[in-house]
Amino acid sequence: MASLFRIAIFASGQGSNFQTFVDATQSGRLEAEIVLLVSDKAKAPVVERAQRAGIDSYVFDPKAYAKREDYELEIAAELERRQVDLVVLAGYMRLLTSVLVDRYTGRMINIHPSLLPAFPGKDAIEQAWEYGVKTTGITVHLVDGGMDTGAVIAQKAVEIRNEDSLESLEEKIHAAEKELYPQVVSWFAKGMIRVEGRKVSVLQK
Ligand code: GRF
Repeated sequence: MASLFRIAIFASGQGSNFQTFVDATQSGRLEAEIVLLVSDKAKAPVVERAQRAGIDSYVFDPKAYAKREDYELEIAAELERRQVDLVVLAGYMRLLTSVLVDRYTGRMINIHPSLLPAFPGKDAIEQAWEYGVKTTGITVHLVDGGMDTGAVIAQKAVEIRNEDSLESLEEKIHAAEKELYPQVVSWFAKGMIRVEGRKVSVLQK
C-alpha cells in the first residue's frame, strides 16, 4: 500500500480548521495523515484538540528565542524528521522567515478569510464587514515571506446580504473554509497542483 500523504498543521488558536482535518482524515474523506501540530501557544485550545486526537504536537514559546529564525530551525528539524509533504497553516498568527519558506516553497499553504488581495492581515472578516462589500470569501494560497501575499490556489465567494450580521458572516466564512481547505489538501495529496510563478492550476486526474 502506498504510504499516506503527510501533513503538518500550524495553528495558534481555536483550531476549528485543525479539527476539520482530524475529522476528514479519520473518516477517510481526506487521504492523508496529520503527523504533527505546531503551535506557538501552549494554552491554545488547538493543543488540547491534538492531544485528544492522539496527534504529536510541537509547542514552543517564541519569547524564549532571540529571533524567529532560531525557533524556525527547530521546527524545520521536527518537520524533516517526520518527512512532512505539506505544511498547512490554519490560524497560525506569525509571519515566517526564509528558514521555513525556502525549505517548503510550493509545499506550504495558508487559508485566509477574505478574497485576497482584498483585506489581508488580521481581522479580515471584520475588515470586509466594516468596508461594506457585498461579496467576500476565502482564499487558499501558497505561503511566501509576505503577509497573505503568496500565489492563489483556490477561492470561494461568500455573499453579504442585508440580513447578515458580523456573526452570521463569520459562520458562513468558517463553514466555507471547512469545505475548501480539505479539498485543496486532497489536490496536493493526489499530485494535482501545478505551480508556474503566480499561476497555480489544478490538473484534472
Ligand atoms: C480561520 O478563520 C482562518 O481563515 C484564519 O484563522 C482562522 C483560524 O480559525 N487564518 P481556527 O483556529 O481554525 O478555528
